[in-house]
Amino acid sequence: MGATGRLVALEGIDGCGKTTQARLLAEAVGVEPTAEPGATPVGGALRRVLLDPALPELVPRTEALLMAADRAEHVARVIAPALQAGAWVVTDRYSGSTLAYQGHGRGLGLDDLSWLVAWATGGIQADLSVLVAVDVDTALARAAARVATVDRMERLGVDFQRRVAAGFAAMAAADPERWVAVDGTGTVPEVAAAVRTAVADRLGDPPGGWR
Ligand code: TYD
Repeated sequence: MGATGRLVALEGIDGCGKTTQARLLAEAVGVEPTAEPGATPVGGALRRVLLDPALPELVPRTEALLMAADRAEHVARVIAPALQAGAWVVTDRYSGSTLAYQGHGRGLGLDDLSWLVAWATGGIQADLSVLVAVDVDTALARAAARVATVDRMERLGVDFQRRVAAGFAAMAAADPERWVAVDGTGTVPEVAAAVRTAVADRLGDPPGGWR
């Protein structure tokens, strides 16, 4: 087998701080962070459809299919080539988000979604999914602080966010090989240190070492 990199996904509910943590982890690894949905040109168009509050609500299956389409583009155009080149990839959200939001949140079947995600990604799983765990009230308060950017998903309300949070926690607990939960309630540098320690424990050092 040739060189193969590592895929690390930051996961969590809206307002948990994973976007900041993905950026800091990527810096420490020495790569540019990537994100879902919307990392590719086609993905950007899909993201607008997925999150534009001016559009009518999507049927949950449509939402799942568009998230999967975004991920298929992301894997084919960004993630798989990087992994094949031996690089590490740090992504802000990956397959866990589909299981948490469209599965636990929207109520679509988890087995169906697992199949869809596996098909969309060609079977590329995150080597490690890091759950940035914060309680829903903290996350909603943080999300409310950036009202201007509140999108359709973020308007779904407390009960929806609670189901998503519980879904993430259940996934992390059920699969300790591929998931680690980090306490996201500390300061940004504290959480960043915990994320980095968790990743180093599981995956070792990135090519070229930690920055
Ligand atoms: P994200 O870009 O992380 O939100 P933000 O712009 O606030 O940082 O994600 C956008 C929304 O899409 C978020 O509410 C979670 C949702 N989402 C899903 O429902 N399923 C998915 O598979 C993904 C990747 C995201």
